[in-house]
Amino acid sequence: MKKINHIISANQFTKKDLREIFKITDRMKTGRYRKPLKNKILATLFYEPSTRTRLSFESAMLKLGGQVLTTENAKESSSAFKGESLKDSIKIISSYVDAIVIRHPDNKSMDVAAKASKVPIINAGNGTDEHPTQAILDFYTISKRLNKFNNIHIALVGDLKNGRTVHSLINLMGKYNTHFYFISPAKLKLSVNYKNFLDSENINYLEEKLENIINKIDVLYMTRIQKERFESLSEYKKINRSYLLSPKIVKRMKKDSIILHPLPRIQELPEEIDDDYRSYYFKQAENGLYARMALLYRILRS
Ligand code: CP
Repeated sequence: MKKINHIISANQFTKKDLREIFKITDRMKTGRYRKPLKNKILATLFYEPSTRTRLSFESAMLKLGGQVLTTENAKESSSAFKGESLKDSIKIISSYVDAIVIRHPDNKSMDVAAKASKVPIINAGNGTDEHPTQAILDFYTISKRLNKFNNIHIALVGDLKNGRTVHSLINLMGKYNTHFYFISPAKLKLSVNYKNFLDSENINYLEEKLENIINKIDVLYMTRIQKERFESLSEYKKINRSYLLSPKIVKRMKKDSIILHPLPRIQELPEEIDDDYRSYYFKQAENGLYARMALLYRILRS
């Protein structure tokens, strides 16, 4: 099995890589593993807030017998606050640990980190660009639940312009025979780069109204309108309630379809949807632990 170094983009994974990672994820789920990462140290360096990504990576490392150094608010609690460059920080930290998980607001940050680092860099979200490990856990969840990799009809709803989980999922599922439906406010449409990528892969996509396709899809992937990406609160408030899921809409979904959300959610996914048997987002978040165990195992095992 080929070892992987940095995880920067979902694009870097081949279908063979994914099959292997999903197989290891299945094993992690059973709890049948020893302490393969004993004596290894992971740094988690988060310049933006996180609940799931940071804690699931940290839990994954501890469960595999490794240790963790963390800066949960690197913007203020690391020397970045005193003006240190990301390049310098990574040069130093990479001499203390065996791998670094980073979340950073700058889209270019992962390239800077990867160039400066002596150890593998794992992208936990770079600005509005990508969140590749989220795409791994998303596609793991989808393929397990639907029991297939191809011929999946998926609607991506919400902020498709700034949504890094959406970008990584397109990069990953665009390698398979996927049918995409893009549903967003006009100001938050998917960038033409992703459409060009899908064209180059001969993958179908449609920009549609949710009500027109809700009864056709296998996966409804909801996302948050991201307040932090707007220049003013008034601009955000003009569109923040554009797509609110309701039991009435969900009722029209196919019986064997699923609702996903990378979380955190706000008003777009009301709690009353949680009781619907198609709601799968908490299971999706739980799978993040096993998928990240698989990725750390694959990167760091001796
Ligand atoms: N899905 C996700 O990235 O969640 P966090 O921001 O809580 O890490």
